[in-house]
Amino acid sequence: MALDFEAATRIPPKMVKIRIRRYNPETKKMWWQEYEVHAHKGMTVLDALLYIKENIDHTLGVRYSCRMGLCGSCGMNINGTPMLACQTQIAQVASGGNPVITLEPLPSFPVVKDLITEFTSFFNKHKSVKPYLIRKDTEEQETPKGHLKMKPQEFIEIFQFSNCIFCGLCYAACPVTAADPEYLGPQALMYTFRYINDVRDEGHEERFAVVDSENGCHRCHFAATCSAVCPKAVDPAGAIQALRSKLFKYRLGFYRKKGSKPLPPPPEKGERKPLPPEAMLVPGANLEQLEKEKVVISLNNK
Ligand code: SF4
Ligand code: SF4
Ligand code: FES
Repeated sequence: MALDFEAATRIPPKMVKIRIRRYNPETKKMWWQEYEVHAHKGMTVLDALLYIKENIDHTLGVRYSCRMGLCGSCGMNINGTPMLACQTQIAQVASGGNPVITLEPLPSFPVVKDLITEFTSFFNKHKSVKPYLIRKDTEEQETPKGHLKMKPQEFIEIFQFSNCIFCGLCYAACPVTAADPEYLGPQALMYTFRYINDVRDEGHEERFAVVDSENGCHRCHFAATCSAVCPKAVDPAGAIQALRSKLFKYRLGFYRKKGSKPLPPPPEKGERKPLPPEAMLVPGANLEQLEKEKVVISLNNK
């Protein structure tokens, strides 16, 4: 879900009720519990949960790490929508005279305790799509001899999909995953597209074989709820559609994979040549003109 920057300036209600669906793994008991928290400007749902844990009820189970939308570990259903607790401000989800925020563990994930869910199946699906570069030369795969060439435009084509933080929000929002736990799910399919689109990768045949299956990309209904909740704007739904299009071409024999060759190793220390003065200029600048105008160009930053 896109960040709500307006929420940062909004004033939250003074007192909010946090209603949490709790689960005790020892007694297998599930119940709803309410807590009251004094909210302040900028307070996130995770801040409120940590306040409860430290001051009201230390038995509450919540998982987090970075507190800045990077580790992907604090996902939960907030008022029915999968969101990151550390990126969601109270002001964004609570309003009115009697504000209540309802928190539940992420759907489609087994619950460990309270708001903590189990990610083994999610990561097994991620692993099943071979989330690493595959090279035809097995020797090169094991012991790379140098960097692989990639143009800036080629990097831009995979950049968006490389931003995934494995938070599982897309997976929790997907109606197909909810109905069929065997479905690979938006994150794994999106990652397949990320590698098929990577010019350095040569494993497209293996990758197409994984996703061209009963539980693969054909199951996607393109409801796009996965893209709507993604906190990093990765757009798994778009990636799955593009993956299907590539798979279709592959099946018809029209698919052409762009390649990338290893670059020669960089020169040893001491062999490097200094950059020519033109290399220090912004594109389009005229070196002769600058010299005429006595603009000093220093290569040594002195
Ligand atoms: S677009 Fe596909 S993967 Fe995404 S939520 Fe819909 S069915 Fe699931
Ligand atoms: S695609 Fe988005 S929602 Fe899904 S796991 Fe990656 S970052 Fe999270
Ligand atoms: S605590 Fe890391 S993403 Fe929320």
